[in-house]
Amino acid sequence: MKTLRDLGDVDGKRVLVRVDFNVPLGDGAVADDTRIRAALPTIEELRRRGARLVLVSHLGRPKDREPELSMGPVSERLAELTEAQVTLAPAVIGDEVLALAEDLTPGNILLLENVRYEPGEPKNDPALADALAELADVYVNDAFGAAHRAHASVVGPTRFLPAAAGRVMAREVEVLDGLLHRAKHPFVAVLGGSKVSDKLGVIEALLDRVDTLLIGGGMCFTFLAARGHTIGDSLFEESMVDTCRRLLKSGHDLRIPSDLTVLSPGGAFGAGVAPTGETRQVGPNVPDGWIGLDIGPGTAAEFADVISEARTVLWNGPMGVFEDPRFAAGTRTIAEAIAATKAFTVVGGGDSAAAVADFGVADRIDHVSTGGGASLEYLECGDLPGLSALRESAQA
Ligand code: 3PG
Repeated sequence: MKTLRDLGDVDGKRVLVRVDFNVPLGDGAVADDTRIRAALPTIEELRRRGARLVLVSHLGRPKDREPELSMGPVSERLAELTEAQVTLAPAVIGDEVLALAEDLTPGNILLLENVRYEPGEPKNDPALADALAELADVYVNDAFGAAHRAHASVVGPTRFLPAAAGRVMAREVEVLDGLLHRAKHPFVAVLGGSKVSDKLGVIEALLDRVDTLLIGGGMCFTFLAARGHTIGDSLFEESMVDTCRRLLKSGHDLRIPSDLTVLSPGGAFGAGVAPTGETRQVGPNVPDGWIGLDIGPGTAAEFADVISEARTVLWNGPMGVFEDPRFAAGTRTIAEAIAATKAFTVVGGGDSAAAVADFGVADRIDHVSTGGGASLEYLECGDLPGLSALRESAQA
């Protein structure tokens, strides 16, 4: 796979950069600019080298060009973060956009409208890829978070233009590939999140590679049920019980909680919800009608201990409903244990990235991935459509 270094002279050239600016919005502004900041090294390097930049990203999952999913707020934030002149294109493709791209001066940026406004994007329509490629001389893919989508802007332009990976993409692949093939042992993975079915592929891929797999979050209840515990009204995937039983008997060091923090029947929980109900620690049978919402203190201490002995740690998925302070302790303990260890530490995107940011430890993690689904799919399959497209283009 080629990287920015391999692109040669880009002075005066138009470079189409696929970025992942799928950021949270609030009150018409960018609420978290982590993904925009992550792309700045690529953007700044190309600007320094005299490139004229055309940036393209998706934002949310628009169905009908909803104006609230316009790239407008992203364009404003990007302009604040760079010295460049940033122009927001009125559309994704078309004559007006082409004229704006042709008029770009070196170092300046044209940000295209939300690429998912085009129905051809998720369909990987070659006509859309061709029209995007027409805007530029070179293609750079720096959208690791979207590299698991075989969409037109992610895989298509590699067929028409010299292509390379940006810095975010190159670093993500280096780190995740290192986890799969060169991890130092003991290698400990901590997995949480709500569904076993969402994580089954990655659990199976990791079991042969890690020394210990620690399971918390909503998905631990299906494992607890498979081991014969009562789980009250906690999250449960009946169809996964046999799978969980098989995994528990596989002979690997797969650990599930020995205690839990639970909420009484009818209690309200979650982010911004007026908290009601009684909380209690149980170990680990959940009483009838109660709901498990966090790992308990004994489990958190046990998991933290395992993490402290590790030389490599991967974490994906919170241990409980950490947005509600009554159920944040498990996730906080894990975040702090990962921040404190001398091991090489990697946190998958999404909720666990938000957790390390919330608990103020993100800068003590070696690598916080910009991709949620993409990092899981990479760990499961060892490749992504966006990456294979870049490799194939390099061979062409
Ligand atoms: C993400 O936020 O994980 C990426 O931007 C991909 O978004 P998607 O799940 O809407 O394809």
